[in-house]
Amino acid sequence: MRVWAISNQKGGVGKTTTVASLAGLLQGQGAKVLMVDLDPHGSLSSYFEMNAEDVEYGVYDLFQKAMTHQPCEDPGKYIRATAFENLFLLPAVMALATVERQAGTIEGLGLVLQKALEHLHGEFDYVLIDTPPMLGVLMVNALAACDRLIVPVMAEYLSLQGLERMLRTLAMISRSRKRPFDYTIVPSLFDRRTRVSADSLRLLQERYGGFLWAGVIPVDTKLREASEAHLPISHYQPNSRAAIAYEQLLEFLLEPGMTNEPQALSA
Ligand SMILES: Nc1ncnc2c1ncn2[C@@H]1O[C@H](COP(=O)(O)OP(=O)(O)OP(=O)(O)O)[C@@H](O)[C@H]1O
Ligand SMILES: [Mg+2]
Repeated sequence: MRVWAISNQKGGVGKTTTVASLAGLLQGQGAKVLMVDLDPHGSLSSYFEMNAEDVEYGVYDLFQKAMTHQPCEDPGKYIRATAFENLFLLPAVMALATVERQAGTIEGLGLVLQKALEHLHGEFDYVLIDTPPMLGVLMVNALAACDRLIVPVMAEYLSLQGLERMLRTLAMISRSRKRPFDYTIVPSLFDRRTRVSADSLRLLQERYGGFLWAGVIPVDTKLREASEAHLPISHYQPNSRAAIAYEQLLEFLLEPGMTNEPQALSA
């Protein structure tokens, strides 16, 4: 079971879109995929037609148990089927927002998701975790649970400081797990016509060279249409520029060396 977290503390950089797109592609290849919506806003849940307002049980319940010092339970009963075969979702509920508020007072909440996923070992081929745009306890859970971090970075509003902070946290978690793992920066919402996109990409190449995916996810309105149609882009418009870009990204992520020999992360 491979666990990928899609994270960036910057908002609106394409995290949720990346989760839905990669999940759709993996499902299309016959893999059994679980998506975990860790964002209290529940955008990923709505993408797959589950509203965080309507969902009664979900990933929050796992945290609730941990906050009241109850043993970690099997998340299986909270997992919902989507309209797509082999594609499942652990939905967000609104209450998830309270985890962030209460977490400061309760210790040991960083490993809730990791422990929950241990129950699912062997049940899924891939687990893709969507995170809120905030370096809080929910994102820390995603970083601790994953063996690969995918960081969509929007070239136009590049916030390298935020990125550095997140990567430092990742390095810290990585050290405490005594298991190095790697991350991939994915330029997203890339507009070839703008100079700022090209400049930002150059900067990313200089700073993150080996950790930067060589491709880009272009700006493509088909992605917004796909989310409105509640379809992953590969199901909505497989020949769109965005679908092809995500296909190339997935190909890169599945390259054998990528997951079997993770590069050590230097702090
Ligand atoms: N490559 C793209 N081209 C055009 N629109 C895109 C692209 N990627 C994402 N979008 C659109 O941009 C908006 C933000 O994308 P998305 O919700 O995936 O970002 P996010 O990082 O998950 O945001 P948040 O931090 O709020 O959770 C959405 O309306 C989405 O449809
Ligand atoms: Mg999102």
